[in-house]
Amino acid sequence: MTEDTVTVTFQPGGFEAEISRDGNFMEASRLAGVSLESQCGGAGTCGRCRVVVISGEVAEPTESEKKLLTTTELAHGFRLACLASAAPGEHRVELYMPPVSIVHEQKFQVEGLTLESALDPPVEIIEGAVPPHGLAVDLGTSKVAMFLVNFKSGKTEESIGFMNPQFPYGEDVISRIGYAGGGTDEAKLLRDLVVDGINEHLEEMLVDRALAPEDVAGVTVVGNTAMHHLLLGLPVRQLGASPFEPATRDAI
Ligand code: FES
Repeated sequence: MTEDTVTVTFQPGGFEAEISRDGNFMEASRLAGVSLESQCGGAGTCGRCRVVVISGEVAEPTESEKKLLTTTELAHGFRLACLASAAPGEHRVELYMPPVSIVHEQKFQVEGLTLESALDPPVEIIEGAVPPHGLAVDLGTSKVAMFLVNFKSGKTEESIGFMNPQFPYGEDVISRIGYAGGGTDEAKLLRDLVVDGINEHLEEMLVDRALAPEDVAGVTVVGNTAMHHLLLGLPVRQLGASPFEPATRDAI
C-alpha cells in the first residue's frame, strides 16, 4: 500500500485488491476476482452493483447514486460499486456484498442430442497415432460451451460450460460493446478475458483426457456478431448504433 493506493476488502470472503486513489470499487472487485452484478457494465445506470460500507471513509454519493438508491439505503451505507470510491486520505475500505449483488455460478447444460453424421476431418488420420481432436466453442454472451471431439470416432469426449469471463463488463451485448468502444485497451481486455477463459478450460479438458495441446488439430467458434467481433479484435463501436453494421459478415 502506498500514499496513492487504497486497499479494498470484500466480505463475505475477505477478497482484497489494491486500487489507485481515483479508482472505484467496481475496479477493485474485478481485481479481487469478485463478480458483482453489472448489467450496465459499470456505466452507473443500472443500480445493480450495490455494496454496503462496513468500515473506512467513502467519498460523498454521486448524483447518480442519489437517483438510484433511496435515502434509507444511503443512510445504511449502501453504495454503487462502479460510482463509489474512497474518501481523500482513506487507505482502507471494507465492503459487504449483499447476496443480490453477487453473480452466482450458474448451471451449465452442455449435454445434448448427438446426431450421426459422416466424418470429414480437416486433417489426415494416422493409424496407431493419437487421434487428432477438434474443439467446438459456442461463445455466448452469458455462457460459453466447449466440446472436444475425436476426429477419428466422431465422438464428443469432453464438454464443459462456464460463465463468459466478460460478464463483469456488462451483462448484455450493448454494454459490452459500450465498454469495448471505450478504447483499444478496453477492447483488448475483453478479448484477452475470453481467450484466456477458452485456453484455461481447454487445458482442463486435455488433462482429463491425457492429451497434449498439439493433439487439437482445429478449433471452430460460433457466436453472435458482438462476441465474434470482440474475439477477433474487430472494431465494435458501429455495432452499437444504427444501422448496426458488422465489420464483416463472413465466417473467418
Ligand atoms: S450501476 Fe450498473 S454496474 Fe454499477
